[in-house]
Amino acid sequence: MHPALIVILSLIGALLFLWFVVFRIVRKFRLAPASRRSVTLLAMILENPVRRCFFSPAKLLDKVGIAVGMRVLELGPGPGFFTIEAARRLVYSESPGKLYCLDIEPAMIARLKEKVSKDTLENIAIMVGNGEHLPFKDGSFDLAYLVTVLGEVPDKDRALRELYRVLRPGGVVSISEYLPDPDYPLRRTTIAWARRAGFEPFQQFGNFFAYVVIFRRGYAEVR
Ligand SMILES: C[S@@+](CC[C@H](N)C(=O)[O-])C[C@H]1O[C@@H](n2cnc3c(N)ncnc32)[C@H](O)[C@@H]1O
Repeated sequence: MHPALIVILSLIGALLFLWFVVFRIVRKFRLAPASRRSVTLLAMILENPVRRCFFSPAKLLDKVGIAVGMRVLELGPGPGFFTIEAARRLVYSESPGKLYCLDIEPAMIARLKEKVSKDTLENIAIMVGNGEHLPFKDGSFDLAYLVTVLGEVPDKDRALRELYRVLRPGGVVSISEYLPDPDYPLRRTTIAWARRAGFEPFQQFGNFFAYVVIFRRGYAEVR
């Protein structure tokens, strides 16, 4: 093999190792919201147009089952890759639904507010908050969705119990994860976490690299 090719392949191998092994181990012990500088970088990555080709908001929201008039929670919206499309789908009726966006990172929320202010939508409420302590009453929502968020939350059991509490009985939560997110959990791990909170999966899409699992909240009392 040509020496230059060996160097290039070794470099790629080292980068992949860094990303998938070292970075994941570090994140396991140090799950924290992004710093301001990394928020800018992360927002650029999340908003990049190539992502739209592989993971379009319209396609995801079709699967999630968002519909006119619903009260919906988007947990961890970041800069709002899915937000405008989701809010639009709620409004074509006499009584429009409402989208609540809650993110722990104030700089992300600032970006999202700026983005939403450029649109005419009036059915979006945006707030800083922690998914482990949702500031909503029991049974407030018909649907919640999270995209590449759960893996970042330190206390996943707590966050999922909170989602169970704020959904109405029979309400649904959609959890999407995909590689190369360094906090990517395997699908079976996500399902095990959600089951511990009382959710049951009823629809699944995707493959090893990118998946969406939709869970229904049962009718049992909040645990
Ligand atoms: C990888 S970004 C994904 C953003 C967006 N869902 C998307 O796919 O474009 C993860 C987001 O989850 C937020 N987040 C992480 N932990 C959170 C928590 N405990 N409560 C609320 N938001 C959280 C982060 O601040 C960040 O904006």
